[in-house]
Amino acid sequence: MSQPSATHPDGAVSFQDRDGIRTIVLDRPEKKNAMTEVMWIGLGTAFATAASAGNRVVLVTGRGATFCAGNDLRDFLEHPPKDENAPVFRCLLAMATLELPLIAAVRGPAVGIGTTLLLHCDLVYAAPGAKLKVPFVDLGLVPEAGSSLLLPRRIGRARAGAMLLLGETISAEQAHADGIITRIVPDENLDTEAQAAAAIIAAKPRQAVLETKRLLNHDRADLLAAIHREAASFCRLLETEEARTAIAGFFRR
Ligand code: COA
Repeated sequence: MSQPSATHPDGAVSFQDRDGIRTIVLDRPEKKNAMTEVMWIGLGTAFATAASAGNRVVLVTGRGATFCAGNDLRDFLEHPPKDENAPVFRCLLAMATLELPLIAAVRGPAVGIGTTLLLHCDLVYAAPGAKLKVPFVDLGLVPEAGSSLLLPRRIGRARAGAMLLLGETISAEQAHADGIITRIVPDENLDTEAQAAAAIIAAKPRQAVLETKRLLNHDRADLLAAIHREAASFCRLLETEEARTAIAGFFRR
């Protein structure tokens, strides 16, 4: 297992390989698993090395009662990513090019990347209290992780507008109806159910699994182009007074 450091203020992303399953944990529960630069580096590494380490499937979850509160908003103010070489974008590209099936187990809020990561998953298990939100526009920003392409494709332009432009939060039930969540699972069974799904995939013929993932992502070039487009807009807008004021507003609540 990579070194978890839940007590470190910048948090950590830990991962463990067992029986062909790489289990990744977003580990900063006291800040609702908001992603810092060090966590982006950890998550990017966990994605980038999962297949070469001999795994067959990747499972991602968050420690504690929140899946992920999105990017650390203080980091956005103090160390904004400047370009596509920033750890956040490298991680998003590693996720978009992951060769293995990706499963998420989600409880509580999934904000920003907490939601857009789910659009890259092959299976999503969520507790009844899961809540999905992509408040990029409210923060003076734009969608990321290819969500400007993936979200309207998944739930339709009209519903994507409600989430991306109105900033609507959606419940686990709505996300299930929308086809973002595979199954809603009682909180106490969430981890075992997600692990069981991972174990089923890990027991299947590896080449067939990898080839199926490759076919499911046949339009990856479009996705990568969307991530690049979004990254350019995101970095530009992060510099604006409009975004900085909106982001700082979170800490004045
Ligand atoms: N960046 C930095 N700190 C964050 C954070 C973020 N994205 N999300 C939560 N935190 C911090 C809070 O500032 C708070 O810190 P404190 O204890 O030092 O005051 C702590 O985590 C707990 O958060 P809190 O808001 O009190 O928890 P909650 O249970 O009431 O609400 C959320 C949870 C996730 C709904 C709420 O924290 C939230 O909306 N976060 C911001 C989400 C966001 O806009 N993300 C960016 C998307 S691009």
